[in-house]
Amino acid sequence: MRIKILVIGSSGQLGSELKVLENHFPSIDFVFWSRKDLDLADLASIKPKLMSEEFDWIINCAAYTKVDFAEQENTLCTTINADAVGIIAEVCKQKTAGLVHYSTDYVFHQAGRLTPYVESDLLSPKGQYAISKMKAEEIISSVMTDYFIIRSSWIYSSFGHNFVKTMLRLAKKKIPIKVVDDQIGSPTYAADLAQWTMKLIAMDNAKSNSGIYHFANQGNCSWFQFAQSIFELKGLEVDLTAIPTSEFNAAAPRPEYSVLDTSKIRTVVSDQIPLWRDSLKNCLSLINLDEL
Ligand SMILES: NC(=O)c1ccc[n+]([C@@H]2O[C@H](COP(=O)([O-])OP(=O)(O)OC[C@H]3O[C@@H](n4cnc5c(N)ncnc54)[C@H](OP(=O)(O)O)[C@@H]3O)[C@@H](O)[C@H]2O)c1
Repeated sequence: MRIKILVIGSSGQLGSELKVLENHFPSIDFVFWSRKDLDLADLASIKPKLMSEEFDWIINCAAYTKVDFAEQENTLCTTINADAVGIIAEVCKQKTAGLVHYSTDYVFHQAGRLTPYVESDLLSPKGQYAISKMKAEEIISSVMTDYFIIRSSWIYSSFGHNFVKTMLRLAKKKIPIKVVDDQIGSPTYAADLAQWTMKLIAMDNAKSNSGIYHFANQGNCSWFQFAQSIFELKGLEVDLTAIPTSEFNAAAPRPEYSVLDTSKIRTVVSDQIPLWRDSLKNCLSLINLDEL
């Protein structure tokens, strides 16, 4: 049976990686909408626009992702990340369509935590972005039943804006770089996340597996170790210094430890998730320094 998937937020990292996968799924019709096709900040436009389109699934890759700016732009962040998602969920329910929505490791922020978070752990977000993502989770799970909420972490890609490309740009300019060494997480290649999203949707009886899932590349590191690996794998000599979070002065708080336990998704999909360094290598092979 052919199915149709509407991807919202198609020009971001994850949306772009889903576009790359389109040809691998000949029995699925994809429609990609960027912000110019649907602006989630314009709440009144969402329902009429979505009701005029047919689809079996929405994959919502759109989000307000400027974690630090969100401290100032809380209203806009909540509108896009929570209120708009509520309308999308209502439309999906009305059309008996499924919804894939992405959340974040930042919904967890437990002091002293040293073991990976499982899906049922208590949420403890700090900062406006993290709180808005938690609100979306609550709204989706209260409105509808056929959904995948996929929490992920430290996403990068050869597309869009991310830590990997920022590090490479700074290295190219020979600027000394300071990176925090006391926040631990799992870098996640958006291409892997896009693939695993499709694995969930393409399963027989996909909707029977509805619920919250954690997906991240396997293993973990600090941002400093992540930066070290980027430079090592790209063969770059960089003046790199480890600093504590207290020296970085970010506007929004970040969890010291936000590693996600991915057992549930690995069991449901019956596959192994690549190690973060292997996926980083794959991504770096697609990034041409001269084009940054
Ligand atoms: N990046 C991470 O480290 C990370 C970690 C965990 C979870 N997540 C979650 O994973 C999902 C995908 O993240 P990503 O890294 O792919 O994000 P991204 O690269 O920042 O892309 C976000 C997309 O949302 C779009 N967008 C922003 N405001 C919009 C609006 N008002 N209306 C419509 N579209 C709008 C952006 O459009 P423009 O291109 O026009 O700006 C962009 O295409 C998000 O839900 C994010 O919260 C991200």
